[in-house]
Amino acid sequence: MLKAPILVLTGAGISADSGVSTFRDAGGLWEGVRVEDVATPEAFARDPEKVWRWYDARRVQVASCVPNAAHRAVVEMEDQFGDQFTLVTQNVDGLHERAGSRHIHRLHGSLWSTRCTRDGRRFPQTEAPLPTLPPICPECGEMLRPDVVWFGELLDRATMDAAARAAERARTVLVIGTSGVVYPAASLQLIALEHGAHVVEFNPERTALSDLVAEYVPGRAATTVPSWWQQNRSAT
Ligand code: OAD
Repeated sequence: MLKAPILVLTGAGISADSGVSTFRDAGGLWEGVRVEDVATPEAFARDPEKVWRWYDARRVQVASCVPNAAHRAVVEMEDQFGDQFTLVTQNVDGLHERAGSRHIHRLHGSLWSTRCTRDGRRFPQTEAPLPTLPPICPECGEMLRPDVVWFGELLDRATMDAAARAAERARTVLVIGTSGVVYPAASLQLIALEHGAHVVEFNPERTALSDLVAEYVPGRAATTVPSWWQQNRSAT
């Protein structure tokens, strides 16, 4: 039975059926790549062009992908539940936005914006590939960095607080396509469990969460999420 408020937590797996690489699956983004070389502030300080090449390659890959039926089902949930619905994503790919989700708490930032290394000002940047690497701030001429959260950096406080509050009050939580190993994002599903939410996990592989949830739905998100939603959407 689907009870509001609803919280949807997504990870790279929701975009896998769109052709976007996940991180930890076979052939994933972290295979053959050292996180310390491309996704830390130290790596950027050492070799900004190398870091930017890696992010720009991801931007090019994602630009050729389109949202799938799971992203669209999440949009329908927002349409139906309005302010009783919260979407929190670890993804930086922008596919929720392109599917039509309007309010998104992005825990790890976005591939589609850049940030000035001098004053932190953000600039939307949808061109892929970028014409020059590293890109330069149009205001002050300093270097721009990817607007993503790197390992060793803090998440935006207001975003994480809003996500944690949603996890505390949600009565139904859908956890879609995340390995649940990166904190603090992974703490949200645990907060929801502690507060007695009905937690449903969608993942082709079992995770540490699978034994704790009320429903574990195996399979690919583009199939399982719309089908679960069709079966449960009217059961409020
Ligand atoms: P992972 O790559 O760690 O996990 C992806 C999950 O998606 C795995 O549990 C897969 O079994 C599952 N999966 C694969 N294909 C799927 C499909 N078709 N449908 C549903 N699920 C599928 O990705 P995340 O959990 O998102 O952080 O990783 C979390 C964070 O680690 C990322 O945000 C990123 C990374 O390092 C930063 O860059 C800060």
